[in-house]
Amino acid sequence: MSAVLTDASFEQARLKLTAPELLRQAAYIDGKWVQGRATIAVHNPASGGLLGTVPALGAAETASAVEAAHRAFGSWRQLAASARAVILRRWFELMMTHGEDLARLMTAEQGKPLSEARGEITYAASFIEWFAEEARRAYGDIIPGHLTDKRLLVIKQPVGVVAAVTPWNFPAAMITRKVGPALAAGCTVVLKPSELTPFSALALAHLAEQAGVPAGVFNIVTGEPTDIGQVLTADPRVRKFTFTGSTRVGKMLAARCMDTVKRVSLELGGNAPFIVFDDADVDAAVEGAMASKFRNTGQTCVCANRLLVQAGVYGRFAEALSQRVAAMVVGDGLAGDTQQGPLINEAAVQKVERQVQDATSRGGRVLTGGERICGLFYKPTVITGATPEMEFFREETFGPLAALVKFDTEADAVRLANDTNAGLAAYVFTRDLSRSLRVSEALEYGMVGLNTGLISTTVAPFGGVKESGIGREGSMYGMDEYLDIKLVCAQVDAG
Ligand code: SIN
Repeated sequence: MSAVLTDASFEQARLKLTAPELLRQAAYIDGKWVQGRATIAVHNPASGGLLGTVPALGAAETASAVEAAHRAFGSWRQLAASARAVILRRWFELMMTHGEDLARLMTAEQGKPLSEARGEITYAASFIEWFAEEARRAYGDIIPGHLTDKRLLVIKQPVGVVAAVTPWNFPAAMITRKVGPALAAGCTVVLKPSELTPFSALALAHLAEQAGVPAGVFNIVTGEPTDIGQVLTADPRVRKFTFTGSTRVGKMLAARCMDTVKRVSLELGGNAPFIVFDDADVDAAVEGAMASKFRNTGQTCVCANRLLVQAGVYGRFAEALSQRVAAMVVGDGLAGDTQQGPLINEAAVQKVERQVQDATSRGGRVLTGGERICGLFYKPTVITGATPEMEFFREETFGPLAALVKFDTEADAVRLANDTNAGLAAYVFTRDLSRSLRVSEALEYGMVGLNTGLISTTVAPFGGVKESGIGREGSMYGMDEYLDIKLVCAQVDAG
């Protein structure tokens, strides 16, 4: 080939997509692929190379997407639930058919190892499959009347236009976990994906179009968050706002939604305690810590953030964990044996550097890692001698730092674990049945992993308490977030 490769064509050639049309460099509004006056560049965090551009849309285009979703709502909600289910099922099948391409695209824009990206595509598709089935089960209730001439019927109806704002750490699954139940319920959606990882979202929209999702039912607006977020939170036609991202931004967006009293669900930051008791199976605890702490380079909301280890097994656990961590293969996610990719951007690396520096300056000891490799790659790190005074204890790391705090009693562990405004996920390792139940009940968290570091699945409710969020995603509860309850109170004459 004689043509000079631009930066973007180099990165795109590395993708080796079987279906190159999955890489869409346009937004998707009312069934049309839309360009803007300006563009946003998307880079591969592993190489820094340009992967492509997407339109930098603003308030006017976002309002037109809301208009399209509002128009489409009338007919989409009228479809039989079984008809919506057939379309969603086709979308799921197309995602599975194109799974390898979707995974490669995700790794290129987000950085996670290809094996994890493949897992995320299966996870993402499973939400569409699950909610295609749930579409038929938006049951209501009949309540015994409070008077002999009254009948009380409770029916569930779609809330209307949904605005969804999704993050970069799970560029596909956080979309389908919202859009699957919304569409199944009969709602229409305007989605703003992260500007760092828009290509996974746009590929999903392409497949939704192929599956027969009608124009206006699923819209994607790309661009900088401020203008788009302003419209999505203020427009009265948007009846539901759903967000996954930082606690700071979530609070701000939710507050704006109150002007028009929208339904809101939020999946915000965590600060997960990972408690290992003396009576735990230490090997299993190490396995659990590897899975929970280092998945997605430590960039999940449910990542273990504070490892609380009882004095009797502290040394053994620290040693075994650091051996496993030191052996991790760090590199470009598209390379075969990579176990940990880059962090998402420079700010993310600097945050890990700051927390490691803070911990060591306060007496923490680095057992392995503790430094940047190059670019956005940071060595997976284990620090012992960590204390609650250190920065990582208060602020979610969102990176590959495992800092180990020693505790003495069960009461200490519970007190330390609950000493945070966050309340998303917690993990407990113990072989004592009574303790496992006692501690699970005492933890102020939405989800508890008992002798496991992996808790996420389509069929279980995902969500937090305290400042980690409102509402639940996935599972038999997930569609309730997109349904309004309506009472029909009927007067029935004696006849
Ligand atoms: C998240 O980090 O927000 C989601 C993680 C998951 O679904 O496991």
